[in-house]
Amino acid sequence: MCGIQGITARRSFRWKIVQWVVAALAYLDYRGYDSCGVAALVNGKWVWLKRVGDSAVLKSALSKTRWLSCLVLGHTRWATQGMVTDRNAHPHFSGHVAVVHNGNLTNADRLRTWLKGMGYVFLSETDTEAIAHLVHYYYQKIGNLRRAVQLAIKDLEGDYAILLASAMEPQVLVAARNNPPLLIGLGDGFNIVSSDARGIIALTRNIIYLVEGDVAEVTPEEVLIFNQRGRRVNRKIYVSLESLGALNKGRYSHFMQKEIHQQPQALRNTIQPVLQRGFSPTLFGKRARKIFGRLDSILIIACGTSYNAGCVMKRRIESVAEVPVRVEIATQYHPILSASPHELVVVISQSGETHDTKEAIKRARAAGHKYVLAICNVPESSIPRASSLIFYTQAGMEVGVASTKAFTAQLAALIILAYTIAKVKKRLSRTDETSALESLRKLPLAARRTLALEPEVQAWARCIVRRRSALFLGMGSFYPVAQEGALKLKEISYIHAEALAAGELKHGSLALVNKRFPVVVSAPSEEFLRDTVLGMKEVNARGGKLYVITDKASNLVASKNIRVIYLPKHDPLHAAVLQTILMQVLSYWAAVMLKRNVDKPRNLAKSVTVS
Ligand code: M6R
Repeated sequence: MCGIQGITARRSFRWKIVQWVVAALAYLDYRGYDSCGVAALVNGKWVWLKRVGDSAVLKSALSKTRWLSCLVLGHTRWATQGMVTDRNAHPHFSGHVAVVHNGNLTNADRLRTWLKGMGYVFLSETDTEAIAHLVHYYYQKIGNLRRAVQLAIKDLEGDYAILLASAMEPQVLVAARNNPPLLIGLGDGFNIVSSDARGIIALTRNIIYLVEGDVAEVTPEEVLIFNQRGRRVNRKIYVSLESLGALNKGRYSHFMQKEIHQQPQALRNTIQPVLQRGFSPTLFGKRARKIFGRLDSILIIACGTSYNAGCVMKRRIESVAEVPVRVEIATQYHPILSASPHELVVVISQSGETHDTKEAIKRARAAGHKYVLAICNVPESSIPRASSLIFYTQAGMEVGVASTKAFTAQLAALIILAYTIAKVKKRLSRTDETSALESLRKLPLAARRTLALEPEVQAWARCIVRRRSALFLGMGSFYPVAQEGALKLKEISYIHAEALAAGELKHGSLALVNKRFPVVVSAPSEEFLRDTVLGMKEVNARGGKLYVITDKASNLVASKNIRVIYLPKHDPLHAAVLQTILMQVLSYWAAVMLKRNVDKPRNLAKSVTVS
C-alpha cells in the first residue's frame, strides 16, 4: 500500500521535476505515510533523501537542496516487510539501478538468499531491495533496463507495482505491474508514472492505465507498452475528469473534522441526481434496468467501514426492494457453491482500490456472478473500472484515514439503490416514491442539525478518554451502526472498542462491565428498542456508564450513570446516518484529547492496496 511516482522529462524541465514529484507525493500519502523518499539522477549519479514520516517531512528536509534532474523517483511507504526506518524507505538501489515498489513479494526470502550467494549486499530488510539487485543482475547480462525488468519479474512471486530507472539510461523509466495499479500520464516533453491518477492530473489529464502483466518503457517522448507475453501493445488513452480537491483544512484543525462537517453537503451532492430524475436505473448505468429487473438477490462485498455501510442497509434494502441481501467481508468471501445468475454483486469501496475487495470481485466472477455494481467515491479507480454498473457517491475527496463522509454517502447510495430496484420491479407506488424522495430531500438538513450537537458529544469524549476500553451497543440495523462507532473510536483514539448486538451482552461480554465502564448505545425508537433497553439495564445494574444516542420518541431519560443525547426531530429512516455522525464526532474528540494523529493514525493507510 505505497504510493509510487516517477517523472522523466526533457532537459528544459530539470528545474521543476523534483518539486513536481514531491508535490505529487502529498496526494499519494494516503496510500501509506510511515516513511517516504525521493531519488534524482543528477549528473549521471543517484542522489536521494529518505525520511521516516510523511511527504511533508520529506518536503521540509529537501528545502535546502536544489537538485536539477530530468529523472526522478518518489515513494510513500506503508511497511509490509521491514520496520519503519529511513533505511527501509524507498527508493532502493543496486549500483546504477533504482526502484520503488508497491506490493508484497512472497518469495523475497528465497530471492535474498540467492542474490546474497551471487555477491549482492543488502542494506535494508525490504523485499523491494531484492528487486533492485535482481534487475541489476539481469542488466549486467543484457545491458537494457526494460529487458532486464522483463526477465526479473519472471522470478517475482506476489503482488507488485514497480518503477525502475538506471543511471545507465538517463531518460528511461520502466514500470511493471502485477495487481496493484500503475498509470502513465502523458505530458508535453515529460511523462509520468504513478500509482494513482492523483499523482498525475495536476500536470496532465491524458492517462494510460497499465493492464496486469504489462511492462512499460517510458521516456519524455515515448511510451512503449509490452503485455504479459512480451508483445508490443497499444493501450487506450483516457482523459481524466478527476478533480484533485484542495489539500487544505480550511477553518478546521483536521481533515477528519472538516470531512465530518462536510457531510450535509456530501449527502446533498449524492442525492441531487435522484431528486432531479427520480429513482431512475440510469443512475447506475445503461444496463441497470435490465439487470435490476432480473435480480433475485443481492450480495454486498466490502471491507471496514464500507462493509459496515452494507450491514447497516441490509434490512432496509430487503424491506424496500423485497430481495434477500447478504453482506460479506471481502477477505471472508470464498464461495463454495456456484453463484445464482440472478444475484447482483454490490461492491462498496470509498477508494475503489482496496486489494481485498478487488480479489473478492475476482472470486465472485469465478463463482459465476455476471454483474457487479460498484458504489465508489473515487472516479476512474480500479473497482468501478472492473464493474458492470457504477454509482459514484459524491462525497468529494476524503483525506482523513477514518472514513466519515464517504460512509454516510454510501448509506445514501444504498437507500437510492433499494428504491430504484423496487421501482424497476414495480414494487414502488407513486405515492411511496414521492414520500421516499421527500424523505431523502430532508436528510442533509437533518445531518446539519445533528452536527450542532457536537458540544454535548465533546463532553462525553472527555469522560471516555479516561478509559482504556469501551463497548458500543445496538440492535438490528443499529448493531452495525455500533460497529462503525467502535471502529472509528479504536482507529483514531487507540482506545479498545467493541460492538455488540445488545441482546448478546449477557452471552459473555457483560463480564467486562464494572463501575464506570463506558458503553455507548445506539438506541433509536424502532422495533428493537425493547431489547436495546434490556441491554442498557444489564449494564446499569453493574455500575457501567451509559452514553445513549436516541430520540425523544424513545422516552429514554438521563439518570445516574445514564447520559442521553436526543437527535433533533428527524425522519426515523435517517436515524442510522445521524447516529453515526455523532459517533464520528465522539471518536474525533476522543482522539484530539488524547493528542493522536487524527488524520493519519498509526499503522494505517487510507487506501489498502495489499493483501
Ligand atoms: O476504500 P475502501 O472503502 O474500500 O476501504 C475499506 C476500508 O479499508 C476502510 O473503510 C477502513 O475501514 C476505514 N479507514 C475506516 O475508517
